[in-house]
Amino acid sequence: MQNAGIHSLGLDWRYLAFDVPPENLQAAIDGAAAMRFIGLNLTVPHKLLAVKMVDALDSSARRWGAVNTIRFEGRDSGRWLPLSQLPASFNGKVRSHGFNTDADAIIHSLREDLKMEPRNASVVLLGAGGAGRTAALRLAAEGVHELRLINRTATKAAALGKEIRRRFPKTIVHLGYGSGACADLILNSTSAGLKLADPLPLDIRHLPLKNAAAVYDMIYQPAETPLLKAARKAGCRTANGLGMLLHQGAMALEIWSGQPAPMDVMRRALQKAIHG
Ligand code: ATR
Repeated sequence: MQNAGIHSLGLDWRYLAFDVPPENLQAAIDGAAAMRFIGLNLTVPHKLLAVKMVDALDSSARRWGAVNTIRFEGRDSGRWLPLSQLPASFNGKVRSHGFNTDADAIIHSLREDLKMEPRNASVVLLGAGGAGRTAALRLAAEGVHELRLINRTATKAAALGKEIRRRFPKTIVHLGYGSGACADLILNSTSAGLKLADPLPLDIRHLPLKNAAAVYDMIYQPAETPLLKAARKAGCRTANGLGMLLHQGAMALEIWSGQPAPMDVMRRALQKAIHG
């Protein structure tokens, strides 16, 4: 997806994957800066750790408490400019600038793939891990009316509920299914569904799928998880997490390049890479 986007923008860059153990993350970020990398994407478990490791935090990273995108910037006449805007010969001071594109990608994908407007919606969120926390906070910021938090480990859902109530008091938070019989959206952020034999992350005795208008699963491989299959059969609108992956990547490319991302090119490359 990124290499297709980079190529389409006519940039002489390459996007590569590196397997970095958490204890080497700071050295890896500093090393990438020393090698004049344009930027980095980070994934689990680096997104939270990096918040304390970058030189500057964008408001997106500060607000959602996680960094998934780093842009390296050079100091030029007192201003910090993306390395993409500086000559290759630039030899001045470089800093790492952390951003978060995951949170906004959720909202983009819900609108685009489910034709769903989160404002005033009633949402059931399955999972309270890193991805679930970002989704819950971003949805609350978008003005969802009610959030029901379901997690295998109840204490994690309780901690998340407390944070939402403190930061976004207008959103009504319930721990567990509560008495609400319907939902505008069920959003799965758990890893249950990565294998086709996995049990549903939802207890359909408490919330039958036919009572939900739409179901979004952050998992994109398999393309149709058991939850999405059951939801489709129950007549819900459904979408997997491919759109979220696309949008977080497209926004990262825009941050690095300063140009609009070629969405169609990136979407096609992503679909081909993941689903053939
Ligand atoms: P991520 O960054 O992708 O969110 P994570 O922080 O490890 O990863 O969170 C994984 C989420 O999936 C958690 O909500 C986890 O529940 P626990 O908090 O109880 O661990 C949930 N999860 C993982 N396996 C699950 C399963 N088999 N059934 C239900 N939930 C599961």
